Amino acid sequence: MSFLTIAGITKTFADGTQALGPLDLNIDQGSFTAILGPSGCGKSTLLRIIAGLNPASQGGIGFGDGLKPEMGFVFQEPTLMPWRRVHENVALGLEMRGIDDRAQVQDAIMRVGLEKFANAFPRQLSGGMRMRVSIARALASRPALLLMDEPFAALDEITRGDLNDDLLTVWQSAGFTSLFVTHSVFESVFLAQRIVVLSERPGRIVDDIRVDAPYPRGEDWRLSVEYAAIARQVSAALRAGHHMQVAGGQG
Ligand SMILES: Nc1ncnc2c1ncn2[C@@H]1O[C@H](COP(=O)(O)OP(=O)(O)O)[C@@H](O)[C@H]1O
Ligand SMILES: [Mg+2]
Repeated sequence: MSFLTIAGITKTFADGTQALGPLDLNIDQGSFTAILGPSGCGKSTLLRIIAGLNPASQGGIGFGDGLKPEMGFVFQEPTLMPWRRVHENVALGLEMRGIDDRAQVQDAIMRVGLEKFANAFPRQLSGGMRMRVSIARALASRPALLLMDEPFAALDEITRGDLNDDLLTVWQSAGFTSLFVTHSVFESVFLAQRIVVLSERPGRIVDDIRVDAPYPRGEDWRLSVEYAAIARQVSAALRAGHHMQVAGGQG
């Protein structure tokens, strides 16, 4: 029984834009899956449907035990409140549900390596650190499913690499299921156990690629022959997804 079942999902917006699908996908508990596709192919739409923020036009989302799990959402923009200190921003999600759990907030701040900045304001932090706050806020509710929507796309390469490393460490220790949306081939291969490649809009699955390299993954993995080979395979799938659209005559 899979943790998350996506069955026959499509999304057509009110203006007639066909954004997504039809799409079927099963996600295993505790797995790390990257969803890779070109800009505008419906990745954010898919995550929003999974999170219950938007309805699908057709199809449905199911969870293994029938209950919606605790979910955390990390967006491309860190969306912090500028007048709140780091720990107050991290506490926000819990607070909105009436929970005051300082230990949990503290634990989330520690997991992203911000213990020295718990009292800082967002304006005092770099872009990478702000993203760490955003991740800590999502972790504070101890999600069973962490949905991440191109969280590192706006960061420089070095910072992005650091956050990739730290995200894997957090995932390994906390054990949640990860769905990570990206348009970066290299990021998907570095992070994921499985890469689901989507076509251009409306996003459909063009390939589903396993990445068997063990964790922890670091520089050895980034520089390995297997990494380069999978990156080539993923790039080819992306190109195939593009040609699908052109061949369909809608592009
Ligand atoms: N509320 C909306 N109304 C109409 N079209 C939308 C809406 N939201 C997104 N779209 C369109 O749906 C497509 C998929 O969007 P999105 O899921 O944001 O793509 P991605 O995240 O892969 O870049 C895009 O063409 C986008 O312009
Ligand atoms: Mg998007």
